[in-house]
Amino acid sequence: MSAELAPARSAPEVLAELRALRGADAPTRGGRTFAYVYDAALAGLDELAAAAYTEYATVNGLDMTVFPSVARLENDVVGAAAALLGAPGVQGSFTSGGTESILLAVKTARDHARAVRGVTRPQLLLPSTAHAAFHKAAGYLGLETVVVPVDPETCRADADAVAAAITDRTVLTVASAPSYPHGVVDPVAAIAAAAAERGVLCHVDACIGGWLLPYLRRAGRPVPAFDLTVPGVTSLSVDLHKYGYADKGASVVLYRDAELRRYQYFAHAGWPGYPVINPTVQGTKSAGLLAQAWAVLRHVGEDGYTALAAGVADASDRLLAGLRGIEGVRVLGDPAAGLVSFTLREGTSLLLHLADELRERGWYLQPQLSHGGLPANLHLTLTPATVGRVDLLLADLAEALAAARALPPVAVDPGVLDLAAALDPESLGPDEVAAVLAFAGLPGPGGLPSRMAPVLVLLDALPEPLQERLLAEFVGSIFRI
Ligand SMILES: Cc1ncc(COP(=O)(O)O)c(C=O)c1O
Repeated sequence: MSAELAPARSAPEVLAELRALRGADAPTRGGRTFAYVYDAALAGLDELAAAAYTEYATVNGLDMTVFPSVARLENDVVGAAAALLGAPGVQGSFTSGGTESILLAVKTARDHARAVRGVTRPQLLLPSTAHAAFHKAAGYLGLETVVVPVDPETCRADADAVAAAITDRTVLTVASAPSYPHGVVDPVAAIAAAAAERGVLCHVDACIGGWLLPYLRRAGRPVPAFDLTVPGVTSLSVDLHKYGYADKGASVVLYRDAELRRYQYFAHAGWPGYPVINPTVQGTKSAGLLAQAWAVLRHVGEDGYTALAAGVADASDRLLAGLRGIEGVRVLGDPAAGLVSFTLREGTSLLLHLADELRERGWYLQPQLSHGGLPANLHLTLTPATVGRVDLLLADLAEALAAARALPPVAVDPGVLDLAAALDPESLGPDEVAAVLAFAGLPGPGGLPSRMAPVLVLLDALPEPLQERLLAEFVGSIFRI
């Protein structure tokens, strides 16, 4: 579309245009994209979600007194999450995703600590593997982050180190179940106990695992206690748009009781408009996302989720066994199921060449860069659609690895690193940023290199504040208007 609205087109033409635009995207169904998408591979589920969304697309979730069915749907969905992951008295909200659930849990903790403990300079205590959304929340809400390294072998949070880092200013500690980077479950009970001893709240980020781990347990797999039944856990986030298989825009945040949830709500009477009471971040919001999540949960049901979880666990077992049998591969930590990350002993250049080679063969594995002594790795999120693909993936992976080994390694000019170390990311002008981006192989406006290894190897070697500045500029160049 040009900058102005083009002349009106017919509905079929518009839809055809949209379909054509998707041609360049990674496939969201079919089990070859191992990040970002959650495919239950259940016939009719996408159609049900779409129909339920359409039914509620025009309903405004802003005012449940005018649209009371919104309250009914939300109570059902949050009630299902509370039954699965809660304890008596648990209350929560439906939100647009993990980031919003986390933002709200952090705001709640900040406001609770100010009211109850008089904390005015709040700190958020995070294991280094906690999701970036916590850093975003801290940035938005004015908290200082205190980051504690995880165990370099197991990649799990170190409960003693977390306990030792609690101060009078700590308003929230965090444990992941599991962590996104490596799929390992943190020692939730020990972290929550340490927090409780100091009168501090503890959030469990079960965004990715909350709808999987309980069903794995039901399928007979060992799963440690990680939810709101664990003493000291005071809030928990779980995304329905991950292993709940709802469409994107569906998550739940839970609190141990109504007294805590109260700090999440925003009410405003001091203006001449309608009385505002927003439980979550958005004001006006379509009830369509809530309705589709409600429909998907009801349709799949307990037995359905259990069977899907068992399939994912079986695929993880086969993938892990296959990966561990490949010379030079190191699986990181002991993943709980669903998520798998591995690195290559031969280094980052080969690893990122491998990701490119796999992409050329139609597979997307997600590159993750090194941080704090933890190596760069490739991340896979297994979903039911990938279950039948594991053997094929492993065969292609062996071939892709051989092809990657035949490529010249990506070398980073030490002079560039010296220069980068001396740069202040904040004071870089647009021309300097453009020059670094071009050096990294990113040609600017909208241009994406066909191979990412040269870009990512350089990025991985740069100081993190500079990485952040370059990433922001790069994305700004994609959204160029
Ligand atoms: C553990 C964890 N927390 C938080 C998030 C952020 O969720 P979202 O992308 O839905 O905002 C994710 C996303 O992958 C996650 O895995």
